[in-house]
Amino acid sequence: LSTMPALPLAKKYFDLYPEEREPVWGNPCDDPRHMKIWSQDKTCHQLPRFLVIGPQKTGTTALYSFLSMHPAIKSNFHSNETFEEIQFFNGKNYYKGIDWYMKFFPTPMDNSTDDVLFEKSATYFDGELVPKRAHALLSKAKIIAILIPPSKRAYSWYHHMRARNDSAALNYTFYQVLTASDKSPKPLRDLQYRCLSPGMYAQHLDRWLNYYPPQQIHLIDGEELKTNPTETMMKVQTFLKISPILDYRPLLRYDSKKGFYCKIDEKSKKSSCLGKSKGRRYPPVDLASEKYLQSFYTSHNIALQKLLKRHGYQVPEWLAEALSERP
Ligand code: A3P
Repeated sequence: LSTMPALPLAKKYFDLYPEEREPVWGNPCDDPRHMKIWSQDKTCHQLPRFLVIGPQKTGTTALYSFLSMHPAIKSNFHSNETFEEIQFFNGKNYYKGIDWYMKFFPTPMDNSTDDVLFEKSATYFDGELVPKRAHALLSKAKIIAILIPPSKRAYSWYHHMRARNDSAALNYTFYQVLTASDKSPKPLRDLQYRCLSPGMYAQHLDRWLNYYPPQQIHLIDGEELKTNPTETMMKVQTFLKISPILDYRPLLRYDSKKGFYCKIDEKSKKSSCLGKSKGRRYPPVDLASEKYLQSFYTSHNIALQKLLKRHGYQVPEWLAEALSERP
C-alpha cells in the first residue's frame, strides 16, 4: 500500500470527484460518529431552530423585531461584516464552516433547550444553494418566508438602492431599470435582476420544498403583517409551537406618523418604530411600470397560486386579487 503527500493526494481526489469540491456541512449531532469526535464544549443547541429566509423588502425586519420581543425566542448576534445578517448559507461565509456560524448564537445555559434560537437572512429565500445547505445542517429547522405583491417588492428594492446611493438606481428611472436589455450596462442589469428575481416566488419556493416538507415551511402574508401584525404573530407562534404564547395586542400599536405598527415602549409608553430605512416614503409607482410588472409577474403569480394550492397553503388575498384583475 502506498500513498502520496496530502496536497497532491487531495488534488488527485478532487480531480477524480470534482462534484465534491464544494463542501456541504452536515450536522454533527445527526451522526453518533461525529458526535464522538466533536469537542466537549460544543452543543447542537447552539444552532437555530428556525430561519427567517426573506425575501428582502417584504417586512423581514419588522418580523425580526417582533419575534425578538418574545421571552423564549433569541436571535443571532449581529454581524458587522454583512450588514447585521449572518448570511451564512448563501455566500462566501459558508466556507468559514459551522464553528464560525455557531459563534453567532448564544451558548444555551446549562445545555438548556428552552431558548428557541433563530436567524434572519433575507437573501436566503432566493439563494440557489441555500435550501440544500440549510437542510444538510438544519434538517429539523422550521422555515419562515414572507410574501408581498412582487411588484411592490421590486419597487421597494429600487428605492432601497436609491437610498443607498446605488449609481444605477440614481441614474435611471424605475421603468428604465425594469426594461433594461441584455445590452444595458452591467450595474443596470444587476439592479434589474435584484428588483425582479426574488419576486419570482414559485420558482424559489419550489427549491425549498425540494428539501423541506410544507409542514416545516410557514408563509406569512406580508400585507397582513403590515395591517394586522398581532394576528400574524399569533399564527407564527402556533406554527413554531412556542410557549408561552405571547399576546402582541398590548405590545404593538399603529403609529399614524410612521404609517406602520410599532412596538410600545414599556417605560415611556411611546411608540418605538423601526428606523427610517424601513417604511420609507416614496411616490406611487408610475403607470407604465405598474403595467409592465403586472404582465411580467402574471405567469409567476399563476405558478405561485398553483404551488400554494398543491401544498395546502392559503392563497393570500393580494395574490387572488392580482390574478382576478388580469386582462
Ligand atoms: P418600504 O420601506 O419599501 O415601505 P425588510 O425589512 O424586509 O427590508 O422590509 C422592509 C419593508 O417592511 C418596508 O418597505 C415596509 O413596507 C415593510 N414593513 C412591514 N411592517 C413594517 C413595520 N411595522 N414597520 C416598518 N416597515 C414595515
